Amino acid sequence: MDNMLNIALPKGRLGDAVYAMFEAAGYPCPAIREGGRKLTFENEALGIRYFWVKPSDVAIYVERGAADIGVAGKDILLEYVPEVYELLDLGIGRCQMAVAAPDGFRDEGDRTLRVATKFAHIAQRHYAAAGREIDIIHLSGSIEIAPILGLSDVIVDIVETGSTLRENHLSVIESIVPISARLIANRAGFKFKNQQIEEVARRLAAYMEEKA
Ligand code: PRP
Repeated sequence: MDNMLNIALPKGRLGDAVYAMFEAAGYPCPAIREGGRKLTFENEALGIRYFWVKPSDVAIYVERGAADIGVAGKDILLEYVPEVYELLDLGIGRCQMAVAAPDGFRDEGDRTLRVATKFAHIAQRHYAAAGREIDIIHLSGSIEIAPILGLSDVIVDIVETGSTLRENHLSVIESIVPISARLIANRAGFKFKNQQIEEVARRLAAYMEEKA
């Protein structure tokens, strides 16, 4: 039985900010800052092991127990609804999930709306609640190009600064939900490593409070 606490971090810009929070909260692992292509890092004295995974995969590692805890965007949690516990809003990686369309677009509601997105489930739920019939066009990136090329009428996507929309002459027509990074835990791990996990959550929350 592995007594180390396995922590999945999202690779990339958000991950760097997340690691900085863990470090400031008392969970440093200096080797992680050395760069390179290594994906796992341990601090044996603290009993923690970090590993970098693709941001959209963090929830899979945590749900299946390959990681005890991890940090995932609320967008991923809403889209895939993994069976994990959501312990804490880390308040970073803030953005919103929104519907955007070419400037001046108006939905006349007279025909099926074509929606391009990476977030099919979120889009489906949003429009089902509004009773609007849609056709989902599932893309994996560069969603903004879909309405420009006439592939879709609107997009459902993440908007952070809004510059991608602006530069492509699109604008937000509806906000769906605010998004930020969340600390999540494997359900079984939360029982077996409860003290360790609660301690991480407590120290992160204390650090956030101190900084606020
Ligand atoms: C995300 C999102 C938007 C953009 C929003 O894309 O899908 O395209 O960021 O950010 P902004 O409002 O600050 O411009 P990402 O860079 O993750 O790439 P993607 O095209 O693969 O989705």
